[in-house]
Amino acid sequence: MNLKTPRYVWVPLIIALVTIPAGFFYVNWSKSGDGAGLYSRDWSPEPVFAYWNPKDFYQSVDTVVGEFSGEQCLDCHRGVTPGIVNDWEKSRHSQASKKVYCNDCHGSNHEQLHMPTPDVCSNCHATQHKQFVDEKRFGFPSHALAMERALDAKHFVDKPKAEVTACLQCHSVATKCDSCHTRHKFSAAEARRPEACITCHSGPPHPDDETYFNSKHGQIYLAEGKTWDWSKPLKKGNYPAPTCAYCHMDEGKHQVANKSIWKFGIKQINPLTSGNEVKRKQWIKLCTDCHDADWSAVRLKEMDSERKTAWNKLYEAEEILKSLRSDNLLHPSAKHRPPYPMDSPDDLIQYEHIGFFEGQASAFYNVSAIERDYFEMWYFDNLSAYKGAAHGDRSFIKKGHDAMDKSLDKIKQKAEKLRVFGEKEKNNKQRKTPEELWLNGEYTEYNRQHN
Ligand code: HEC
Ligand code: HEC
Ligand code: HEC
Ligand code: HEC
Ligand code: HEC
Ligand code: HEC
Ligand code: HEC
Ligand code: HEC
Repeated sequence: MNLKTPRYVWVPLIIALVTIPAGFFYVNWSKSGDGAGLYSRDWSPEPVFAYWNPKDFYQSVDTVVGEFSGEQCLDCHRGVTPGIVNDWEKSRHSQASKKVYCNDCHGSNHEQLHMPTPDVCSNCHATQHKQFVDEKRFGFPSHALAMERALDAKHFVDKPKAEVTACLQCHSVATKCDSCHTRHKFSAAEARRPEACITCHSGPPHPDDETYFNSKHGQIYLAEGKTWDWSKPLKKGNYPAPTCAYCHMDEGKHQVANKSIWKFGIKQINPLTSGNEVKRKQWIKLCTDCHDADWSAVRLKEMDSERKTAWNKLYEAEEILKSLRSDNLLHPSAKHRPPYPMDSPDDLIQYEHIGFFEGQASAFYNVSAIERDYFEMWYFDNLSAYKGAAHGDRSFIKKGHDAMDKSLDKIKQKAEKLRVFGEKEKNNKQRKTPEELWLNGEYTEYNRQHN
């Protein structure tokens, strides 16, 4: 290339040559703090994080010195941690022809112990591990990416530690293999039951627990599950009604994201793309273990139409908020509330984030009342209606939609009021913006002088 090459070629090229390495450099720098993930420099780990995210944070105890054989570990730990040894003795690991001892997972040198990451299990369970890691290609949300997802969430870093420390407990599903078959039994039968999932899959933004147990499937499990033979693999003919793992990890495949169409439910999806139609066929095939194919297709389409109705309501709310924003009627506006430390571009151009594609403004904990109404509608009412529809629970669909209608009404009424106030202020000759009242008004002045 010579310098006569038009400027529109080499100027962008030089910019790219500078910014791309600078970008990589910045990301590496940003990841090298005491914490982990993209914002590692802005937080430091709690001691318990060593167990949730052992790869980044675990350091061995050094109170016991020496290298031990498997039998020696057992002898001493029968006294130190008898429960662990009892569970291990009941496990397949202790009954295998070549026993899997404590040191096979934790190491033999007691000053250099480790807490087993999925890589340790992969030494002997390559199939499950490979499937588990391969899930990354389906993107978020997924078990394999769950830890990064939590660590890189801005509200994990912005909010007080006391409020967010539990994030990593659930999101540790990515960093260790004992989430569904708990240590030290590591039982496949345990993992097949719905209880294995609901320690994490419950509560307002993801009521999988509640919606499953309200569904016919869940009710059958509650009535009859005690009598089922849980040692059988999750395959056609082995179970009269499905559990979480039966549907989401069919045939024992260690993946949960491979069939997801609507995913977490926080943005609208087109279920008719060719990729999603393939996934839908996989769902229908699964249902036909017990149901008719056309019947199942109709039931799953019902979910799509529930989603369409929900999104019509959500878009209506978004439009109202966006028009208030453009008329400068959201108070306190983003310019007059502290910016989120992690939303660094917001220091320069502050604006109210509305809708999935503008970002989550650190999950809406520092916003005006009407924005918070919208957040409740989007994150809690909408997501419960979705899980009701996905899992066949009419009561959650109804409750979710009733709540969305209520929130939408509230948003409309508040918007009306804000417009009326806005008009009044416009006509007021000695007009003060509300911000001036907050920052320099009589009340503030009074407090300044008298506090
Ligand atoms: C002589 C007794 C003894 C022997 C032998 C022994 N341990 Fe321990 N182990 C302990 C004690 C005591 C603790 C608690 C140490 C502490 O909290 O500082 C412990 C703690 C542990 C922990 C928990 C560490 C943590 O950070 O929470 C693991 C894992 C462990 N031992 C594994 C093993 C393995 C694997 C072996 C065999 C290679 C083994 N132990 C042999 C006494 C023993
Ligand atoms: C198949 C692998 C495996 C074997 C075998 C194993 N562990 Fe563990 N152990 C784990 C996993 C996984 C964890 C959880 C790691 C984490 O929380 O980061 C764990 C955690 C622990 C802990 C700390 C957490 C707790 O519950 O107290 C201790 C102590 C421990 N193991 C001791 C033992 C002893 C003693 C044995 C032998 C009887 C043993 N382990 C055998 C996989 C294993
Ligand atoms: C040194 C090899 C080895 C390591 C390391 C190992 N396992 Fe195993 N695992 C086995 C063997 C052997 C069996 C028994 C298989 C059999 O009997 O067919 C087994 C069985 C299992 C089962 C089936 C239990 C059942 O109820 O059927 C689970 C689940 C399991 N392991 C999980 C894990 C996890 C999780 C880890 C890592 C924390 C791990 N294993 C590490 C060798 C290992
Ligand atoms: C230790 C906590 C934990 C347990 C136990 C757990 N999960 Fe999850 N699961 C998560 C987290 C966290 C996410 C979200 C990950 C993210 O943010 O990317 C998730 C995501 C999912 C998804 C969403 C995938 C997608 O593409 O939308 C499905 C489906 C799922 N889990 C099913 C299950 C099933 C079935 C079980 C039980 C067999 C289970 N999970 C057990 C924590 C857990
Ligand atoms: C009770 C367990 C639990 C706790 C605590 C938890 N999460 Fe999650 N989280 C989940 C599950 C389960 C999902 C996935 C649900 C689904 O796909 O329906 C999820 C989804 C997410 C997602 C969305 C994934 C995506 O790609 O859209 C993010 C981001 C997230 N969590 C971050 C956090 C942060 C940050 C915290 C702490 C403030 C936190 N989580 C606390 C279980 C939990
Ligand atoms: C989301 C829950 C979940 C997680 C996380 C999970 N498993 Fe499993 N695991 C299961 C279920 C469910 C089964 C029973 C599958 C079946 O019935 O076919 C199982 C079975 C197994 C088995 C026995 C397979 C057999 O055919 O006997 C092994 C081995 C195993 N898991 C290893 C792992 C390893 C290694 C990891 C971490 C990479 C892991 N699991 C993480 C849910 C989970
Ligand atoms: C009859 C099969 C079935 C059972 C049982 C079931 N689910 Fe689902 N689940 C679905 C379907 C279908 C969807 C919507 C899938 C789509 O199109 O995105 C879904 C959606 C989800 C999602 C959102 C991610 C996704 O894949 O779209 C999570 C997380 C989830 N289920 C977890 C659970 C948990 C946890 C349980 C048990 C308490 C459970 N499910 C029981 C069929 C089932
Ligand atoms: C392992 C067997 C099994 C699988 C797999 C299964 N179901 Fe079911 N399902 C049942 C049984 C049994 C009933 C109770 C039948 C009844 O209501 O008479 C039921 C009931 C239902 C109902 C309530 C029916 C009604 O008339 O109210 C719906 C909806 C449903 N299933 C949808 C699905 C969908 C969608 C799938 C696939 C994603 C699926 N099921 C997978 C066994 C299964």
